[in-house]
Amino acid sequence: MPPKKETKLPPVAELNVLEAAAEAAQLRKEIKRHDILYHQKDAPEISDAAYDALRKRLENIENAFPELATKDSPTQKVGAKPAREFAKVRHTVPMLSLSNAFSEEDVTNFVDRVRKFLRLPDDEKLEVLAEPKIDGLSCSLRYENGVLVQAATRGDGEEGEDVTANVKTIKSIPYKILKGAPEILEVRGEVYMTRADFENLNKSQTEKDDKVFANPRNAAAGSLRQLDPNITAGRPLRFFGYALGEVSIPIAKTQEGIRKKLTQWGFDVPEPEALLDTPEKITAFHAKTYEDRPTIAYDLDGVVYKVNDLEYQRRLGFISRSPRWAIAYKFPAEQAETILHKITIQVGRTGTLTPVAELEPINVGGVMVSRATLHNEDELQRKDIREGDYVIIQRAGDVIPQVVKSLPEKRKRNNKPFVFPDRCPECGSHAVREEGEVARRCTGGLVCPAQAVERLKHFASRSAFDIEGLGDKIIQSFWDEKIIQTPADIFRLEKYAADLKEREGWGDLSVKNLLAAIERRRTIPLDRFIYALGIRQVGQATAKKLAQHYGSLENLLAQIKQCKDRESDAFQSLLEIDDVGPSVAEDVVNFFSEAHNLRVVKDLQGELTVEDYVRPQTRESPVTGKTVVFTGKLVTMSREEAKAQAESLGAKIAGSVSKNTDYVVAGEDAGSKLKKAAALGIKVLSEEEWQKMAKL
Ligand code: IVH
Repeated sequence: MPPKKETKLPPVAELNVLEAAAEAAQLRKEIKRHDILYHQKDAPEISDAAYDALRKRLENIENAFPELATKDSPTQKVGAKPAREFAKVRHTVPMLSLSNAFSEEDVTNFVDRVRKFLRLPDDEKLEVLAEPKIDGLSCSLRYENGVLVQAATRGDGEEGEDVTANVKTIKSIPYKILKGAPEILEVRGEVYMTRADFENLNKSQTEKDDKVFANPRNAAAGSLRQLDPNITAGRPLRFFGYALGEVSIPIAKTQEGIRKKLTQWGFDVPEPEALLDTPEKITAFHAKTYEDRPTIAYDLDGVVYKVNDLEYQRRLGFISRSPRWAIAYKFPAEQAETILHKITIQVGRTGTLTPVAELEPINVGGVMVSRATLHNEDELQRKDIREGDYVIIQRAGDVIPQVVKSLPEKRKRNNKPFVFPDRCPECGSHAVREEGEVARRCTGGLVCPAQAVERLKHFASRSAFDIEGLGDKIIQSFWDEKIIQTPADIFRLEKYAADLKEREGWGDLSVKNLLAAIERRRTIPLDRFIYALGIRQVGQATAKKLAQHYGSLENLLAQIKQCKDRESDAFQSLLEIDDVGPSVAEDVVNFFSEAHNLRVVKDLQGELTVEDYVRPQTRESPVTGKTVVFTGKLVTMSREEAKAQAESLGAKIAGSVSKNTDYVVAGEDAGSKLKKAAALGIKVLSEEEWQKMAKL
């Protein structure tokens, strides 16, 4: 390859029309050549970033000289460039998120919950370590024998992207740990940019006629996820360490100890930090850090509280996707005032009609916002928000922006109250509101295109089938063109391969990649499959419980079929699943009673292999695979800890006693469940007997 030419281009504003025309023509030729090299020859000559720069420059010229824009310019093609990929990395220890607190009360409840779970006596102090929550991108750094061997982004928590080459360019990350590193050490933390560095970067981007970033977080993300590490090297990224992933030997006894070790090894850790042991001190830390925010060099979006003792952390464990031992207390949301032009109605995958505010675009805390949710009919009426009103909107973290209130005092014209439609705007079916429900729902089912498309989007989304390259926009266009009408069509996409290659901006390689991504998902774990179906009220956690309970798809279908009879043992057994109440049970049974849903499942079964539920790493013990019911007051541990422990041993926890129950563990003052167990002849264990079995 010829050596890279260092040509400094003049800013677009300094070009005259002739120069601009010549450069635009040259750029178009060049971009088309790279498109062919990439899409058809599978032999790209330049990095993604260099390619992006060419397109950006052409776009800038065409914007500045609209008379030069041509119809066949590469800038007119949408989606011409499928993202070239990073390799995938499976996290040995999942990267979790944090549950959020929004008020002092939430934090106090967190501390109470922890104390209760651990059964701490009132006079025993519980130490909590507090530190800022950094608004960046989480990253896991793997050291083997003290040498940085791999860096990965969080991704979906189970699988992230390999950004090793890029991370090696970050100066505040030690490449080698000189003394005392365990054989395997994963340091988790946040890649971020200071506000000053962000501003300087944007200044130089502007001078170079290059992309400017909306906020430091976006700048950090954009800089880390560059396919060309030379670009990352030129960006002022930094790193804070705050947690561990896999470690071959314990390195500390407390969270504070982890911070100390990380500091000794050359990592930066978030400051300010504090060890706190009363609710007053805990809430004061939040307020003080919020106040000090302007003096801190980087953006924080709140503070994180972590139980300091690592043995307590181990006992507390995790719930769904976040640890029980930590909580993030976010700072108050950023607000701004703007005009609400119009209220539109969005139809979700379960048919819910959601009012959406179309706004005069406005910058709220560094992000441009042009739409915000109005939640539901009642909210809209209660807040009396009308089209044409001035409104206050707010956004907090990654939450969807919302309309807080309207400003009736600024109402110039007599804006009319909004009348909520009683027909679905997408398919015209009746939209009804059942008693006790806040949502108005379209009754069109799969006849309603919005529901069908939203269900397909959900099906392919990250937490469900996670089909890379099959994003919302592509699903929408495949739906419009009738290429994909039902989930199983995704797995029959191959028959359109030849047509797809002819699509604007597509080529051999992108079609090949998409089909390969689909192929990879032809085998899917049961819990993901259940979640992907989009059953009302069945999120990831409930899907997991259902998968755990039924074990296989065939068993689930057979059992749920029997649930049509609400008096059946099968329905009883569904209700026994921990966390499944009557309303969730109804939604599950109703879903599988509808012929069109069963057709979807059957169709999918023809295309896929749904793997039986594999229990997460559990220790084998005599209770593995058994169904256990806890009742009465336990003495040695809280009910919650007992359940968590049983689950980690692979036992199924049920909420009520039936003939499917293997053991009833009875604490003090156990009542009706004990009677039922006796009537059904089920083995009853004392707490002590249970503990003995669990330890075997
Ligand atoms: S501790 C098991 N500490 O916030 C998870 N996380 O919203 C332990 N974050 O995914 C995380 N600052 O990426 C922790 N001081 C801090 C943090 C922090 C930012 C991120 C982290 C997490 C996300 C959750």
